Amino acid sequence: MQYGYFDDQNREYVITRPDTPLPWINYLGCQAYFGIISNTAGGYSFYRDARLRRVTRYRYNNVPFDLGGRYIYLRDDGSGEFWSPSWQPTRHELEDYSCRHGMGYSVIGSKYKGIEGRTRYFVPLDENLEIWQLSVTNHRPTPAALSVFSSIEFCLWDAQDDATNFQRNFSIGQVEIEEGVIYHKTEYRERRDHFAYFACSDALAGFDTQREAFVGPYRGWDRPVAVERGESSNSVAYGWAPIGSHHVELALQPGETRQIVFVLGYHENPVEEKFDPPGSQIVSKKTVKPVIAKYLDPANADAAFAALRAYWDSLLGVCQVETPDLHTDRMVNIWNAYQCMATFNMSRSASFYESGIGRGLGFRDSNQDLLGFVQMVPSRARERILDLAATQLPSGGAYHQYQPLTKRGNNDVGSNFNDDPHWLIVGVAAYLKETGDWSILDEPVPYDNEPGSEQPLYEHLQRSFHYTLERLGPHGLPLIGRADWNDCLNLNCFSDTPGQSFQTTTNKEGKVAESVFIAALFVLAGKELAAIARQRGLEDEAKQYLAEAVKMDEVVHAYGWDGEWFVRAYDDFGRKVGSRECEEGKIFIETQGFCVLAGIGLEDGLAKRALESVVEHLATPHGIVLQQPAYSRYYLELGEISSYPPGYKENAGIFCHNNPWVMIAETLVGNGDRAHDYYARINPSAREAISDLHRCEPYVYSQMIAGRDAPTHGEAKNSWLTGTAAWNYYAITQWILGIRPAYDGLEIAPVIPKSWPGFKTTRKFRGVTYRITVDRAGDGNAVALTVDGAPIPGHTVPPPADGRTEVSVEVTLS
Ligand code: BGC
Ligand code: NOJ
Repeated sequence: MQYGYFDDQNREYVITRPDTPLPWINYLGCQAYFGIISNTAGGYSFYRDARLRRVTRYRYNNVPFDLGGRYIYLRDDGSGEFWSPSWQPTRHELEDYSCRHGMGYSVIGSKYKGIEGRTRYFVPLDENLEIWQLSVTNHRPTPAALSVFSSIEFCLWDAQDDATNFQRNFSIGQVEIEEGVIYHKTEYRERRDHFAYFACSDALAGFDTQREAFVGPYRGWDRPVAVERGESSNSVAYGWAPIGSHHVELALQPGETRQIVFVLGYHENPVEEKFDPPGSQIVSKKTVKPVIAKYLDPANADAAFAALRAYWDSLLGVCQVETPDLHTDRMVNIWNAYQCMATFNMSRSASFYESGIGRGLGFRDSNQDLLGFVQMVPSRARERILDLAATQLPSGGAYHQYQPLTKRGNNDVGSNFNDDPHWLIVGVAAYLKETGDWSILDEPVPYDNEPGSEQPLYEHLQRSFHYTLERLGPHGLPLIGRADWNDCLNLNCFSDTPGQSFQTTTNKEGKVAESVFIAALFVLAGKELAAIARQRGLEDEAKQYLAEAVKMDEVVHAYGWDGEWFVRAYDDFGRKVGSRECEEGKIFIETQGFCVLAGIGLEDGLAKRALESVVEHLATPHGIVLQQPAYSRYYLELGEISSYPPGYKENAGIFCHNNPWVMIAETLVGNGDRAHDYYARINPSAREAISDLHRCEPYVYSQMIAGRDAPTHGEAKNSWLTGTAAWNYYAITQWILGIRPAYDGLEIAPVIPKSWPGFKTTRKFRGVTYRITVDRAGDGNAVALTVDGAPIPGHTVPPPADGRTEVSVEVTLS
């Protein structure tokens, strides 16, 4: 069953009924000011950091699930009836409800008793504000006297504190109202030099800034007293809960449409010019007024919207494909790339499942996110790499996360994840291959943000690699530390105390438990680093890295092979995890995918055998589960993984993030049918028809789909912020379609299904547009290339020598 449809022409998903199984959200903003918006206009906004600079308030896990947001109320002043065109919060029976989620904007609206209201919400490029363009049309045969009320609830900036420290916060809220603009200035009088504002293009009949005055005692957003009576009370908030609400009266003739623009924004003043007049306590509005005036003008709002559309045309234009599979095209050309922007911006911080206060930007996560983002805005990828590297510790290890506002690392969600440092190598390699910008390696970057500790980025990569060499366990495999990619394999935790965090508790010395996954990652990183060293002319160093990678490959062969698949780890007792010897959790996906991806076992058949075991033990119609059999009880020595009920999350859920590792592995053994079959199983668009089972958005990946041990097998959770986005984009574009940036050109090595006659793609790469046509002439994956009419050897298209910026490539697969 579906709740809407894809409008590929407009790059929109159109939701046609408001009661989706879960809120289906979109992101507004893609640079510094961000908003989350659901299909019923729920959600909130923040500047840079969802924890430290929250602009509007949102209560997570509410009842109903999604309540609070950017609500507009329409009121028929003739009858006194009122409703919200976005359905929530009044939940009237609406006609023509739709929510169009597009690239950086959402349009939500409906008709009710002949009155249509639709609002386009978006964040203009390069501005710290959002625009709501509301159009109201009178479809009645008679004139309509209407009232429009807007509403948002301000957050007192620090979202964590805002949600907990009421004894203080109920006394500090402050606002100003000037010329119809509501300014939220809590704490501006002391140490903040930023404020928020909410403006309206029309003359106001009234306003409210105190929540209680607007909603009324013992009422909620569904029945605000001000809307019911058709009159605001011009309340000025002191303490309690500052909100912003405008009241506009509209008289519409039959057939008439009027547009009202609302602008909600964030603004900073220079410290010495905070107040106007100086010495007063009044916010200086000198620099913000022109911005507000500009965007309240509908023509300027339209122009900003057109610029946003054009921006997305150019971002998505970097890679466009035309394959025999609609779902592949839709995800690659539109939604998967779009989701990669969201994961790049948010990491795992703010979605409807990440509260914005739990996790900042993860070191491991953000590095992996680059795989799907770097081709879109390389300059921002560069900046991110340098920010991440600056949080690296002198040991080569890393803070597991940092706050985007301060860019400082912290240990709030644990430390000593021994896989972390290697992801920096993977991220930098992806950046170098895409851009050819070798200068990044010479950038001085501090350790732990300590001034004076700067070393070239390249040295950071060296330390990342050595970090593991200095932390090997009894079998010569890398020690796991707190955990590796699988945050829930906590082999040194041994927690038996209720409520203790698995991510920060350690009860063992950590000198025994080893990770075969990190071994594989080390092999991959070693090969990447060797290639980088070679490009820099450091041949001896390159050889050393390769030698270490080969050595680790041998250790994996000796101690990481279980007979039919790769072992997952060794626990603190030196016993295997993910082995036929285990009672449960005999086989894990991570090492099957990643060992092959690192090239381990490709030559001696182990890779193929491991992938057969994935088919036999882990693959389901809804995707590949993380491990089998699921843990049916808590294992003290394994940690959080066994804390989840069977079939969910890391305990045998379909953790979509590492499904693409197996897809890539399948391409490496030449099996395009299987690679694409796995791709299709978790492709959200391909799952649209089962939206009532899948429940999350059909246009983006979710972190998890419940595994076969779960009573809700096939149900997705935790949509949007997941490494699944980048890895799937990388798997389909670079390994299945096989169009791969490489140091010496654009590598072309498709491993597509046998039944595909071919495909077409346009790829912009280092300033050149490659128009590529792939034709199948036989069943295999051998590639013959013709570049601008001339056959060339090998499977890499070199950069055009004569400065051409358009190249056409014919590929024959046989
Ligand atoms: C989740 C993991 C996540 C970790 C982050 C755990 O509860 O299961 O998926 O990576 O928290 O701290
Ligand atoms: C989600 C986390 O963000 C990621 O870092 C981790 O690798 C996976 N969960 C698996 O535990």
